[in-house]
Amino acid sequence: MNVGVLTGGGDCPGLNAVIRAVIRKGLQFNFKTVGFRRGWAGVMEGDFMPLTLNDSSGILARGGTILGTSRTNPFKEEGGAEKIGESIKKFNIGALIAIGGDDTLGVANKLYKEKGLKVIGVPKTIDNDLSATDYTFGFDTAVTIATEAVDRLHSTAESHQRVMIVEVMGRHAGWIALFSGLAGGADCILIPEKPFDVDEVCRIIAKRYARGKTFSIIVVAEGSKPRGIPEITKDDSIDAFGHIRLGGIGNWLSKEIEKKTHYETRVSILGHTQRGGSPTAYDRILATRFGIKAMELIKEGKFGQMASLQGNEIKNVALSEAVASPKLVDDKWYRLAEVFFG
Ligand code: F6P
Repeated sequence: MNVGVLTGGGDCPGLNAVIRAVIRKGLQFNFKTVGFRRGWAGVMEGDFMPLTLNDSSGILARGGTILGTSRTNPFKEEGGAEKIGESIKKFNIGALIAIGGDDTLGVANKLYKEKGLKVIGVPKTIDNDLSATDYTFGFDTAVTIATEAVDRLHSTAESHQRVMIVEVMGRHAGWIALFSGLAGGADCILIPEKPFDVDEVCRIIAKRYARGKTFSIIVVAEGSKPRGIPEITKDDSIDAFGHIRLGGIGNWLSKEIEKKTHYETRVSILGHTQRGGSPTAYDRILATRFGIKAMELIKEGKFGQMASLQGNEIKNVALSEAVASPKLVDDKWYRLAEVFFG
């Protein structure tokens, strides 16, 4: 059987580890693996490459994706879903593995439900906001990068007696902010799930000053919302999945804090550094286990499923369950973080 694989949406450390595992496991099962380039765009255009044992060498530790990626939504393109069906038929693809977040897997689920495409999902996103899996690969790497940044910013904030704001990724969910803020000992963590009040943030900083701590570190997720203020965005462009470009909350917050407290404030926006470079050992292993599971599901003929981490086991769940709603930070986690505020 020919098995197709694609990587869609924002890239993420660990994508190549999945591809490597898929190729290796495929060889055990006597499957031929082909890689579609640039996500769903490559499937629509029939743009693919054979993936051999040699293609799997030397990619485990490599960031990005050897297949390239895009935020293409076939359901937004004229005849897009039909083109995918034609491609699958024309190139005799027996099953397709889609490695992606909620957008890419949302498309996979729709193609499975509406077009009967034999598809398996693998959950990736640095944001960790996919339901039906405890963790996505890429998240641990992003948290490690952001934590290192928070650690480094502590010393410069302290030397200059400044407030330092660290803006991290996280569109709907504040997992990266929460975990890097906890691991790095931030004095306040702001996340999209909890609209915040600037005066409260200023009170936290002032409390620290009052006890002689003349610097503060605030970690803010890009999707965080100040109460009563419209969403802060970079510009008004919208992608094929209807997402606006975020970015700017850190700068906005910095101005507000300086205005209200008169403490010198600086901002570090980590941006795409969180998505680049080599995956951590944890992400390499998780990605590898997901890739193996995806091939096993194909062998068992279980389609419309996603590989999922549940506790320490890799299981399968329906794609529809995984894309139904995002996995958000709950109150329990935030209350734990609040113990360390101020
Ligand atoms: O993949 C999700 C994400 O990391 C979001 O946190 C962020 O808003 C978005 O990607 C940025 O993506 P782009 O590469 O399109 O700027």
